[in-house]
Amino acid sequence: VKNYPGLKVALVGATGMVGREFLPLLEKTKLPIGSFYPFSSGTRRQTILFRGKKLPAPGVDFKTLASCELVFFASADEVSKKFAPRLARAGVWVIDDSSAFRLDRNVPIVIPEVNGDRIRPSHRILAGPNCTITGLAVAGALLHRKIGVKEVRLASYQAVSGAGKDALLEFFSQLGAVSASLKKDFSIAPALPKLASRALPRQIALNVIPQVGGFDREGNCGEENKVASELRKIWAAPGLKISSTTVRVPVVRGHSLAVWLTLSKAKPLSAIRAILNRTPGVSVKGGMDYPTPLDCAGKGGVSVGRLRLGATSKEICLWIVSDNLLKGAALNSLQTAEYLWRRGWLKARP
Ligand SMILES: NC(=O)c1ccc[n+]([C@@H]2O[C@H](COP(=O)([O-])OP(=O)(O)OC[C@H]3O[C@@H](n4cnc5c(N)ncnc54)[C@H](OP(=O)(O)O)[C@@H]3O)[C@@H](O)[C@H]2O)c1
Repeated sequence: VKNYPGLKVALVGATGMVGREFLPLLEKTKLPIGSFYPFSSGTRRQTILFRGKKLPAPGVDFKTLASCELVFFASADEVSKKFAPRLARAGVWVIDDSSAFRLDRNVPIVIPEVNGDRIRPSHRILAGPNCTITGLAVAGALLHRKIGVKEVRLASYQAVSGAGKDALLEFFSQLGAVSASLKKDFSIAPALPKLASRALPRQIALNVIPQVGGFDREGNCGEENKVASELRKIWAAPGLKISSTTVRVPVVRGHSLAVWLTLSKAKPLSAIRAILNRTPGVSVKGGMDYPTPLDCAGKGGVSVGRLRLGATSKEICLWIVSDNLLKGAALNSLQTAEYLWRRGWLKARP
């Protein structure tokens, strides 16, 4: 869709898991998008549907990106690193879902309802958070501000779509092989065919994998390091103690977290529930009700359940679920753009 009055917007990675989630959101947004330019790796011919039209999604063309007021990146770290700084110098707003700039001191990790006030009009590159920590960063934001969170322990249950489209295709093909084999023989595990795993480190069908990303020397995997450093940055809490085990599970979309928070002081659960209920973007299940990834798939908010006391009077336990492709990526980035627009910092060029 090109050359109408309004904002010129590009999306790099429009054919990926996150990119495809952007498309309906961009169709519905109040941002006055006049021209829209989707890009892919360009390794094969691909099209996407936008406002009822089939648009080609070719390889990235820097000139076109530089002619836009806003560019979303949802592809790979190297792609963001290659183009974003040049675009920023040209005055283009860049909202990046990769991890390329998240720990850059000059780039805020933005969740608008948590720390939108961290954005300055002089910024040009804004990072979206890692999809695993988004749920806790949103759900715990007001608790941290009102009471103080001293320590975080968590285990994640991460959907396969979080690892991109190749991982999801691998999962589906393994499921096909598993179900074919189960039809033949009900004596499961030893009889399962050896399934190829390329996108993920082990078979994900009928399994869980306690590894997300590569390991460092201490034995932490990449996701565990991201969770810690990003939450400290988002909450502006450099001294926050965090330990986590991040786990891939055979779920299509929706990341879940079992979280133990040690608060600065003991508070009754009713007070904690009241704070959670007032936290923007959060819905809290009461009684014995709880959210599951299936309940949250395709929904924009963060859902919390199983609130209870932990091992000490200062520790609380929470179960948090959010859609990794929406609040964990595309929706959050669009909300950041809408925030820029409301502040008058994102404008169509004359
Ligand atoms: N998946 C999530 O839940 C999630 C959440 C938060 C952040 N993220 C981040 O968002 C980014 C996209 O993730 P994803 O899950 O959507 O990955 P994906 O499904 O693998 O899609 C990757 C996209 O990037 C494009 N691409 C690959 N190489 C490119 C290149 N050299 N130039 C331009 N485009 C290129 C691909 O195009 P082709 O179709 O041509 O291959 C595709 O559109 C990643 O940085 C990821 O870490 C993902």
